[in-house]
Amino acid sequence: MKNGLEKIYAEIPRRYELANHIMTLGFDRLWRRRAAAIAVEGGGRRWLDICSGTGEMAVYLRKLAPNETSVYATDFSMPMLSRARRKSEAEEIGFSISDVSFLPFADSTFELVTCSFAMRNLNRSRKDLLHTLREVRRVLEVGGRFVNLETSRPENALIRFAFDAYARLFVKPIGTAITGSRAGYGYLAGSIPRFYGAGELDDLMLEAGYRGVASKRLMLGAAAVHLAVR
Ligand SMILES: C[S@@+](CC[C@H](N)C(=O)[O-])C[C@H]1O[C@@H](n2cnc3c(N)ncnc32)[C@H](O)[C@@H]1O
Repeated sequence: MKNGLEKIYAEIPRRYELANHIMTLGFDRLWRRRAAAIAVEGGGRRWLDICSGTGEMAVYLRKLAPNETSVYATDFSMPMLSRARRKSEAEEIGFSISDVSFLPFADSTFELVTCSFAMRNLNRSRKDLLHTLREVRRVLEVGGRFVNLETSRPENALIRFAFDAYARLFVKPIGTAITGSRAGYGYLAGSIPRFYGAGELDDLMLEAGYRGVASKRLMLGAAAVHLAVR
């Protein structure tokens, strides 16, 4: 699927952010800001945003970072990162191309790693996701924080049904109409109901060796911010 995903992310960068803002009625921005605010609470001198895409989270981190803090962003999609590099804050962000399964950083490099709306992509299997969570933990300093923002599974069955219906009926057609990528938004919409609930993802983080795991559900559980400490 890696090549399939890279192909999808080569098709959508130009209108990716617009599609997100329309599909979530602007909530994705609020959620990223909220996650960024939680993320930076721990401070530190080296912060990394993985699966950074067009760099929205990395830009929030850069805006919130003290001058002496270096912000890095990595993704395996050159077309997505090219959009990120056009942003005015990009000059002060260190970009790299990498697959998050094997991050090109030494152990214990960062005090903070963030990830937004990408964990579903890394969920090819439970085993793969655990491997990636451990890889992120490896590059964190002891005491460093991993903050993950992702769509989630509402606990209430009725809300979950409505949320899945929205994903099925709107995400694919709206995403396709805006970006022109039917395959891309078919995949992205389909990955929403297959993902974990907030409690299940907390448990997976604990299994990957993190401590201090906590999550905050957003908009009735449609999304969640997870905090996990190495
Ligand atoms: C849905 S986008 C999210 C982008 C950005 N974080 C955001 O909040 O909008 C998912 C991103 O994850 C990247 N990605 C998916 N799998 C990856 C992997 N194994 N290694 C690195 N990047 C990956 C894709 O290229 C894409 O840019």
